[in-house]
Amino acid sequence: MNQQKTFLVFGATGQTGQHFVSLALKEGHKVRALARNPAKLAVKNPDLAVHQGSVTDISNLDELVQGADFVVSMLGDATLQNNAKINTAFVQNLVPAMRREGVKRFLYQAGGLSKQPGKPLSPAFWIIRNTLARGYIGQHEDNEAVMEYLAKEANDLEWMVHRAGIGSNGPSKGVLERSASKVSIATFVDCAAYNYRTLMDTSAIHTCDMSCYRKD
Ligand SMILES: NC(=O)c1ccc[n+]([C@@H]2O[C@H](COP(=O)([O-])OP(=O)(O)OC[C@H]3O[C@@H](n4cnc5c(N)ncnc54)[C@H](OP(=O)(O)O)[C@@H]3O)[C@@H](O)[C@H]2O)c1
Repeated sequence: MNQQKTFLVFGATGQTGQHFVSLALKEGHKVRALARNPAKLAVKNPDLAVHQGSVTDISNLDELVQGADFVVSMLGDATLQNNAKINTAFVQNLVPAMRREGVKRFLYQAGGLSKQPGKPLSPAFWIIRNTLARGYIGQHEDNEAVMEYLAKEANDLEWMVHRAGIGSNGPSKGVLERSASKVSIATFVDCAAYNYRTLMDTSAIHTCDMSCYRKD
């Protein structure tokens, strides 16, 4: 086993988050999670500590962040995000808490249809976003505001954004690799494994790349 680390996970009860938590625990690490409904987390483990709460109303953020090696956000609430940038407001609280507690590394999962700062979406992605995926526009706008904030105001931290193309909860389809130009429709378990590996990859710091299956 690698040296035991502590992961602070937001979105642990979600489709990607549940796989991420299981993987980090299986690899022998400690996981601390904030969840609106802790009972949704299927996994039970002595190395898992779940705190009940919402990122929209969080009073103990410094306490949660303290001692973490890695902070991971796989947060999303597409309905709420159509009306309010809840992830951006949260990340704007999280970053100062990380600074206060001396925690550096942060991975944020966004979507392949979320535009990264200073770069337009391809015409094909733009069409998909505004037709098939239009129910998620608020989520993409929120993700974009998070990326803008991180790029403009948080470069003292080791942030990294995964613009994921996940689509299903099937079994693993292979190994996802970081890509600036290509995105695969992946499974949640593969996205979670990608997030886990990417957190340890210093070359991903300050990138907002997508992920694509490796061709063997
Ligand atoms: N799903 C996709 O196909 C897809 C594709 C591309 C990108 N993405 C990106 O990846 C992110 C994660 O996707 P996902 O499908 O794994 O997420 P998901 O299944 O929708 O889960 C979202 C997680 O966020 C938590 N959450 C939402 N609002 C919260 C709040 N106020 N306080 C605390 N926790 C809160 C949810 O908790 P509850 O269990 O309490 O609801 C859940 O754990 C999305 O936001 C999106 O940007 C997703």
